[in-house]
Amino acid sequence: MAARHNSPNYGPAPVIFERGEGVYLYDRDGGAYLDFMAGIAVNALGYAHPQLTQALAEQVGRLLHVSNLFYSAEQIELLELLCETSFADRAFLCNSGAEANEAAFKLARRYQHTLNQGEQRAQIVSMNQSFHGRTLAAITATGQPKYHEGFAPLVPGFVYADFNDIESLSALVGPQTAAVIVEPIQGEGGVRPATPQFLKAARELCDRHGALLIFDEVQTGVGRTGSLYAYQHYGVTPDIMTLAKGLGGGVPVGAMLATERAFGGWTRGSHASTFGGNALASRAALTVLRVIEQDNLLENVRAAGERLIVGLRELARRHTLISDVRGIGLMIGVECGPAAGDVATLARKHGLLLNTAGATTLRLVPPLIVTADDVDEALARLGRAFEDFSQR
Ligand SMILES: Cc1ncc(COP(=O)(O)O)c(C=O)c1O
Repeated sequence: MAARHNSPNYGPAPVIFERGEGVYLYDRDGGAYLDFMAGIAVNALGYAHPQLTQALAEQVGRLLHVSNLFYSAEQIELLELLCETSFADRAFLCNSGAEANEAAFKLARRYQHTLNQGEQRAQIVSMNQSFHGRTLAAITATGQPKYHEGFAPLVPGFVYADFNDIESLSALVGPQTAAVIVEPIQGEGGVRPATPQFLKAARELCDRHGALLIFDEVQTGVGRTGSLYAYQHYGVTPDIMTLAKGLGGGVPVGAMLATERAFGGWTRGSHASTFGGNALASRAALTVLRVIEQDNLLENVRAAGERLIVGLRELARRHTLISDVRGIGLMIGVECGPAAGDVATLARKHGLLLNTAGATTLRLVPPLIVTADDVDEALARLGRAFEDFSQR
């Protein structure tokens, strides 16, 4: 089996996928799956989207990569579009969420270093139960000890506040703080939305103490919450925002966006990434952003998300195993205790793909193109999975 040669950190389900179309994936044996996990919140336009397929095919035949020693037209257009659609003045393009967060930490520390004439002001405050990626700084920022185990020494200068706890955050933010990093909705930590008051307090604390506010929108960004970026939903604007996952619609691309002021510490050579924002990745991200706009997908996310939440709450009335349904747009968590993993496996047997976030939460993050019929079908299949579980 393939597993013999796979890196042991992965433990994939025994399914080999061959192709996808729309919101469906097809395995080698002809099995069809309604996909409500979308490659872990990545495949924003589903599978084989005609516009993305055509744009990428054209790009592959023309220009893939030229390095960041030159521009490509696609990269220039993407940088412009990212800044036009957000608070940002500039963007650093990279390949993943962890890489975008690494860039954010380096930007914040260098900003403080420059502003304070080299004086040490390096502390980064992150949240308990957060998730920011798997590089050393990103796991350090991740406020979950299980991701730290055996990897010490971690990166110095990180401290942890309790999510949605204003007192806990204000006890940690001070003149030593370089930046605060927060996910507007904690994803891997169990799909937990921040309260508006918490994000507002984070903004005020950062302003009061001269710290930068970083929103990790790797999972919440690019339409997932029904706003292009979740900060717009909350009406709280960060200084730095990181994106990845949905941005390339399945092509690896990440971005760190920030204000001119926050970029004040970086000069030529401060940071770099060989592949970052190459022509192919930029074309993918440009296409995703344009399709979201052209096809009014934000409206679709809000409507489909509402339908899904209503249906899940209905399901919760029939299955007491479900203790909470929460989320915004098409980022939804269903709290069902230690049964979550088993329910996800049973759902797969009924042709529905979803995964868990944390040990007790089912996570539903379908492609943004999902229709009302897809939502109803997913609810029916999930209902069957819960029935199977209760009959065991
Ligand atoms: C909020 C958040 N930040 C960062 C990451 C890391 O992204 P990547 O796996 O692309 O490095 C993830 C991945 O799940 C995430 O959910």
